[in-house]
Amino acid sequence: MPKLTVDGIEVDVPEGATILQACEAAGVEIPIFCYHPKLSVAGNCRMCLVEVEKSPKPVASCSIPAGEGMVVKTTTEKVEKARGGVLELLLINHPLDCPICDQGGECDLQDITMYYGRDSGRFDLNKRAVADKHMGPLIKTIMTRCIHCTRCVRFADEIAGTKDMGALYRGEHMEITTYLEQTAKSELSGNMIDICPVGALTSKPYAFHGRPWELRKVETICALDAVGSNIRVDASGKKIMRILPRQHEAINEDWISDRTRFAYDGLANQRLDKPYLRTDGKLRPCSWDEAYKAIQKTLSSVSGKEIAAIAGDQADCETMLSLKLLFEELGSQNIDCRQDGAQHNAKYRSSYIFNTTIAGIEDSDLALLVGTNPRIEAAIINARLRKRYLQGGYHIALIGEAPDLNYPYEHLGTDAQALKDILDGKSEFAAKLKAAKKPMIILGQGAMVRRDAPEILRLTQEICDKYGIVTEGWNGFNMLHTAAARVGGLDIGFVPDQQGLSAHQALTKAEEGKLKLLYLLGADELPEKDLSKTFVVYQGHHGDRGAHLADVILPGATYTEKYATYVNTEGRPQSTNLVVHPPGEAKEDWVIIAELAQTLGFKLPYSDLGQLRQKLADISATFGQYDVVHPAAWQKIPQGTPETLSHLPLKSAIESFYMVDPITRHSRIMAECIEANAAMEPNKKAVANG
Ligand code: SF4
Ligand code: SF4
Ligand code: FES
Repeated sequence: MPKLTVDGIEVDVPEGATILQACEAAGVEIPIFCYHPKLSVAGNCRMCLVEVEKSPKPVASCSIPAGEGMVVKTTTEKVEKARGGVLELLLINHPLDCPICDQGGECDLQDITMYYGRDSGRFDLNKRAVADKHMGPLIKTIMTRCIHCTRCVRFADEIAGTKDMGALYRGEHMEITTYLEQTAKSELSGNMIDICPVGALTSKPYAFHGRPWELRKVETICALDAVGSNIRVDASGKKIMRILPRQHEAINEDWISDRTRFAYDGLANQRLDKPYLRTDGKLRPCSWDEAYKAIQKTLSSVSGKEIAAIAGDQADCETMLSLKLLFEELGSQNIDCRQDGAQHNAKYRSSYIFNTTIAGIEDSDLALLVGTNPRIEAAIINARLRKRYLQGGYHIALIGEAPDLNYPYEHLGTDAQALKDILDGKSEFAAKLKAAKKPMIILGQGAMVRRDAPEILRLTQEICDKYGIVTEGWNGFNMLHTAAARVGGLDIGFVPDQQGLSAHQALTKAEEGKLKLLYLLGADELPEKDLSKTFVVYQGHHGDRGAHLADVILPGATYTEKYATYVNTEGRPQSTNLVVHPPGEAKEDWVIIAELAQTLGFKLPYSDLGQLRQKLADISATFGQYDVVHPAAWQKIPQGTPETLSHLPLKSAIESFYMVDPITRHSRIMAECIEANAAMEPNKKAVANG
């Protein structure tokens, strides 16, 4: 641990730390452009110059290791002059764009120039101009503003794992480019906007729409997948203007996926903003009272066995608990949060959460992916897998249809027989699994929605036992969910008991006309069924698939319009915050259930959000403390005799990264991404064919 002084402050830093990190440890701020803590060191902007005793010239603090006994000075005249010189050079060719630049107000170059810049430069030749590059529908480029820090190039290469970006030419002629002028091929591409220290890369959908100081900033979480990425939502009045990442080292580090960042326009499109009632085959607007009374009328003549509720992928825990309690009052156990028919057993928590945790991936030394494409299902978790792969000594294998991942993997086969071969020791991979110290298996939802899911789960559990995947202090069994609501729903027990109907059974009964009322809580991804013989209530936020089936529509709130709890795939509860109020007459979802219960003559055991959250904590220890992963003790699901495996290939549960739910389906930005990627397909084929 080298000990050194920075501006007279003595600090100890870990071996290998840079002078810049030593300055940070001493609480001294150093201006930087090219350095980023999550990227390799480039040392090319020279903005971080400091003076080190006995060194004749100022040194770039981001690229020089801190040494024992070093004396670092950061505020001397020499340092100020050197930094001023660097800025003068950078600004030779930088345009005077600040008034029309989207980076204005949050620009590193602007801020640093305010501190160290000179009031005039000594260069009066014309500035150079660089042609803008096409990077697709998400990133706007104004390459004349580029200061060649290469952060975007390193991000694309290291984090995103695509060779999209690079630098052409030398010296003054250097240009950052996408080479073939094509759409950035990464599901994490928006992060390049954040890390670009100037306005060279900015958000295309947000261009000229707002200034940072005008926006209301609310910290919340994303519910468009089961990762629970921490985000900041910026709004102006009732409109969401943009979404940015919020650092959370255990979940998303500094990054978010493009779906999390750019699908926000879908939050406002095709919204349900008033209740609707179907009369004479047509949905017409009605009052809340009429809507509740219509449900009451149907329920008055049916028994608990003749009703069912299915919760969708963005249902929050408070609302699912409220609906569960209401259905208990109605004498029904027909509730299910697995609209896709995934065969999870809510009694065995360790069988349905990502036990290793997202950060824990970095401790593993082998990963086996089964029936999943983490790149499109959970891009942030995929980035962690890539990070671990880049650290070296990591083996990744996959069973299922071979997806295009941004790291190499051993393909063990397309169907579940490959799992059996591992268990029987017939696969060569078995030896690698045995040799691994901290192996992990990641089961995707593609494996859980199949007929043979129980057998796949049984084989996986047997493999865990046989190959030491779960040991004292290490649990390498992981379920990768795609739905934000799923783990919370299972923790609450939003599943049928022995006598109750599963989602699949309820839908079949509804199609046969044997179910009198079906309550869809934001359930929009149901298999195609004719539900015309059943009274369907849809509570949700978009006029999407579920709403089209409905006889009564109760307009609810999206994840940006309510205080709601979601449990991520690791089993970590987190809360959203209200950014904007739901549109029109729409309401927070748990309030709708409470009002309906009141109309039906029931009093649910809480009257405000605080009491409801207490009720959640009473039901499951998960909700006792937020933002904490409650580890689940390893318990194997008792299985019967081995069943036959299907020969159908295992594949990801989702087809498109950009469209997965009502919000993304109504996002113009997401539609443009699909179009842009489709347009690139012929190019890709041409390249592949040589
Ligand atoms: Fe101004 Fe920064 Fe934009 Fe350059 S990048 S024009 S300094 S706001
Ligand atoms: Fe750096 Fe931005 Fe230029 Fe990329 S585009 S090299 S991030 S200034
Ligand atoms: Fe150190 Fe760029 S931040 S050289």
